Amino acid sequence: MKQNIAMDKVFIKNQFPIFKDTGLVYLDSAASAQKPLCVIDSIKDLYSNHYSNINRGVYKLSRILTDKYEESREIAKKFLNVKSQGEIIFVRGATEGINLVADTVGRVHLSKDDEIILSRLEHHSNIVPWQIAAKRSGAKIKVVEPDTEGNILAESVMKLVTSKTKFICLTHVSNAIGSILPVKEICEAARSGGIISLIDGCQAVPHMRVDVNDINCDFYVFSGHKTYGPSGIGILYGRKELLEEAPPYQSGGDMIDKVTFEETTYAPLPNKFEAGTPNIIGAIVLGKALSWMEGIGIENINVHSKKIIDKGLRILKDIDGIKIIGEVENRAGVISFLYKDVHPHDMGTMLDNYNIALRTGHHCAQPTMNYFNISSTLRASIGVYNNEDDFIKLAECITKVKNLF
Ligand code: ALA
Repeated sequence: MKQNIAMDKVFIKNQFPIFKDTGLVYLDSAASAQKPLCVIDSIKDLYSNHYSNINRGVYKLSRILTDKYEESREIAKKFLNVKSQGEIIFVRGATEGINLVADTVGRVHLSKDDEIILSRLEHHSNIVPWQIAAKRSGAKIKVVEPDTEGNILAESVMKLVTSKTKFICLTHVSNAIGSILPVKEICEAARSGGIISLIDGCQAVPHMRVDVNDINCDFYVFSGHKTYGPSGIGILYGRKELLEEAPPYQSGGDMIDKVTFEETTYAPLPNKFEAGTPNIIGAIVLGKALSWMEGIGIENINVHSKKIIDKGLRILKDIDGIKIIGEVENRAGVISFLYKDVHPHDMGTMLDNYNIALRTGHHCAQPTMNYFNISSTLRASIGVYNNEDDFIKLAECITKVKNLF
C-alpha cells in the first residue's frame, strides 16, 4: 500500500533523521533534498557488507553488486518510462549529463551557423556547455524570452526555430523562479521538425511524474541528490540512435570492446558512456531513493507539492513588503521572493538564526536574475517533508526580523 503523504505528514517527516528533535525548517530542497533513513541505511549496509568493484569479478560479491547496479538502472528506466536499458546512463549529475550530450552529440550535429535554442530561465549548467559547443562548432545560441512574469510559451520557442536549428535545450522547471515549461508541446514540435531536444529535469522529477516517452524528448537529465538520493550520481536518458552514433565522452576501462594499439572498439550502450569505475554505491542507492518515491506515490507527491506551494505563496504574499519574483501560472517546488530592499543574504542569515534554511543568491541562474533586474532572491523550495507549518514559521520569523533592517 502506498504511504499517503497528503494524509500523514508526520509519518513522512519521521523518516528523515535530520528533523528529529532539531526544529529545522528546511526550505532548500531545490539545492539538495534531505535523505530518508532507508537511503542512509542502504549506503552503510552496502559499504559494510556488500562492497566490491563491479563488471570485473567472477567472485560472488562482485557479481551480486553488478546485478544490483543494473537493477538500479532498470528502476531508473521504469521511473522515466524509458524503452531500453541502454538509454539510461549513470552520470555524476545533471551537469555531467548535459556536458556529455553537448560534447558528444553536439560534435556530430553542430556545424558553423547552426542554431541552439535555450531559454532565459536556464541554470548555468544548461547554458555554459552549449556555449562551449557553439564556440567549438561555430554554431549560434538563440535565447527564448519569458513573459514579464517568467512564463515560457511553446509558441515563443517555436518562433525562434529556423532551418538551422539543431538543438532545443530547456529546463523542465526553472530552479530560480519555479515556472513549469510546456516541454511536451515543445519536444513534440521539435521531433516533427527533426530538432534534437534536451530537457533538464532537476527541479521537475522531485515533484511530478516524468514520462520521457510521453514528453517525446531526445535527452532528459536529473540529479540524484535532489530526489532523496546521494550526491555525485544522476541519470541521463538519451535516445538510442543519437547515443549510438555519438563518440564516447570519456574513455578508459569498461567503455571498450577491444583495445589494441592499432585500434579500439567501444562497448555497446550504456557502457560506452560509463568509463572507469562508476559511483557504484551512489547508483544503487539512487535506485533505492527512486523506489522510495514510488512507494509514496509520485501522484501523491505531486498533490502534496502543489498544495504546500500554494499555501506557502499565500502565506508569503500576506506579509507586507514581500515581492514574489515570477508570478508564474504553473509552478513547481520553488518560490523566489524579496523583502523590501533588504539584501537576500542579510535576510537569509537572520532566518538561519531561527533554524530556517533557504537559499539566497542568483541560484546559478544569472540571466534569470538579470531579466528581473535583480542580482539575487530569497528562495524557499520544498520536498516531501515540508508542510504549511514551515511557511508559517518562515512568515513569523520574517515578521520578527524585519524591524531590524
Ligand atoms: N541547482 C541547485 C539549486 O538550484 C544547486 O540550488
